[in-house]
Amino acid sequence: MKIAPSILAADFSKLGEGILMLNSAADLIHLDVMDGTFVPNISFGFPVLEAVASNAKIPMDAHFMTVHPEKWVERTAALGVSMMSFHLEAAGRDTASIIGRIQEAGMKAGVVINPDVPVQKLFPYIGKADFFLIMSVFAGFGGQKFIPESIERVASLKKEIIRCGASTLIEVDGGVDAGNAASLREAGADILVAGSSVFKAQDPAAAIEDLRTA
Ligand code: DX5
Ligand code: ZN
Repeated sequence: MKIAPSILAADFSKLGEGILMLNSAADLIHLDVMDGTFVPNISFGFPVLEAVASNAKIPMDAHFMTVHPEKWVERTAALGVSMMSFHLEAAGRDTASIIGRIQEAGMKAGVVINPDVPVQKLFPYIGKADFFLIMSVFAGFGGQKFIPESIERVASLKKEIIRCGASTLIEVDGGVDAGNAASLREAGADILVAGSSVFKAQDPAAAIEDLRTA
C-alpha cells in the first residue's frame, strides 16, 4: 500500500520540515483544499500548494473539497500535481467531463464520495477515473473517528472493479491509523491517507512505515 500523509495535520509553522520528512518517508503528499462552501471549513489554497510544490520530491495528491472543482484543474496541473480528486456530490452530472479535463491536463483523476453516498454511484466511472477516494469520515476536518462501515464499502467497490477487469485504484481518507490499516488493505485499499496518525505521532516516519506494512 502507498501512504499519503495529509499535511492538514502538520504544524504549519514548520511546514518545510514536514515536507522534508515526507520526501524521505512517504509515497505521496495529500493536500486537502477546503472552500468553506462544499464543506463547513476552510483549510488552505494555492499559496500553500505552491510552497509544498516547490519543496516536494514525491508526487502530490490534491483532494478538492470545493464546489466547482473544474475551475482549478489547470492551475493545479501547472504546479506539477500528479493526482487530483474532487467530490461526486459537488460535480454531479459533470463528473465524467471533469475526469476528462483532469486527465487532459496530465494528472490522474480521482472521484471522491462521503460516507453517506452509496458506492454504487461510483460504478459508472470504473475504468474511467484513475482512482476513487472513499471518505472514512465526513470531509471537512482532520482528526475525526474512523467509520468502520468504510471497510465494507471498500470491499464492495473493489469487487466491482475486479469484476469489470479495471485497474482503478482505491484510496481511503479519514481516521486511518495502525488499528484499521490492515483491514483496509485486506478490503482492497491501494492508498491510505493519514493526517493525525502520522503528524501527531512521536516518530512520524515510523508511523508511515507502520501503516505501509500493516
Ligand atoms: C478530511 C480530509 C482528510 C483528513 C485526514 O476532510 O480529507 O484528508 O485531513 O486526517 P485524519 O487522518 O486526521 O483523519
Ligand atoms: Zn483528504
